[in-house]
Amino acid sequence: MSGTFLRIAVTGVTGRMGKEIVKCIVKGEKQFSQEIVLGAAIARLNTNICGMDVGTLINADTLGVTITDNLESIKDNFDVLIDFTAPDVSVEYLKFCVNNNKNIVIGTTGFNKIHKNLILNASHKIGIVFSSNFSIGVALIFKLLHRITQIIGSTSDINIIETHHNKKRDIPSGTALTMQNIIVNTLRSVRSNKIMDSNLDSTTYAPTSSCDNILIHSIRAGNVVGEHTVLFAGLGERLEITHKASDRLIFAHGALRAAL
Ligand SMILES: NC(=O)c1ccc[n+]([C@@H]2O[C@H](COP(=O)([O-])OP(=O)(O)OC[C@H]3O[C@@H](n4cnc5c(N)ncnc54)[C@H](OP(=O)(O)O)[C@@H]3O)[C@@H](O)[C@H]2O)c1
Repeated sequence: MSGTFLRIAVTGVTGRMGKEIVKCIVKGEKQFSQEIVLGAAIARLNTNICGMDVGTLINADTLGVTITDNLESIKDNFDVLIDFTAPDVSVEYLKFCVNNNKNIVIGTTGFNKIHKNLILNASHKIGIVFSSNFSIGVALIFKLLHRITQIIGSTSDINIIETHHNKKRDIPSGTALTMQNIIVNTLRSVRSNKIMDSNLDSTTYAPTSSCDNILIHSIRAGNVVGEHTVLFAGLGERLEITHKASDRLIFAHGALRAAL
């Protein structure tokens, strides 16, 4: 880190999230505990916007940061890299960070198991914040889902419904997969606790078909930023927990907080 500034490199600066993060940094929002500056703006290899000032992408004045596809040229210009791009290229940016001992915030979704193992291994060498969703509301839902599932998970039919804009590449969304993972893991731990209890005091456990059968329903439509509903349906009542993102700003703020 240089002085009191945290210098950020943003990848995918032509993308929806990349632009939002650049905008947030240059607006210099006061909510962050430390001053954040844009250290580098990275775009796809051989794209014709390389060499242009990044301000042109967000209809701002000249910002003094030139868009580049040359990672070596900017390796001394930043402390943390923020990446919202696509899985294959994200892991290339990750390797670059490992090789240069830089920290990384990863917001890209759609990783496979091999990618995830690469991220896990890299986390032993550099600082990584990796989340399928950087909004505070969804982080809270992740916590609530664990508790709700402990209480009514095994007596409910559980479905996850997610809606996103029609340009989104991965399906289902990374957030829906994280939600599914939390619910399945919680149901499994509830089940194994009950089995242990039944060994001790003969409590019988009613197995539930929901455990590994948490369905995700995906809708791709219009310009919806991102909506997730988890439905717990029991006999005579149902609980729905919903998050609606209406502005990508929330993800940009979350990623910048993660960088700090
Ligand atoms: N974790 C969260 O909170 C959160 C929130 C929102 C989105 N996301 C995820 O973030 C990712 C980006 O979302 P988005 O809506 O910003 O998508 P987007 O608008 O399609 O932007 C993708 C960016 O990645 C770049 N890119 C794609 N392939 C590349 C490659 N091979 N080499 C270099 N750059 C490449 C694109 O460059 P070009 O313009 O040249 O194609 C573009 O700048 C997605 O995985 C999305 O699901 C996560």
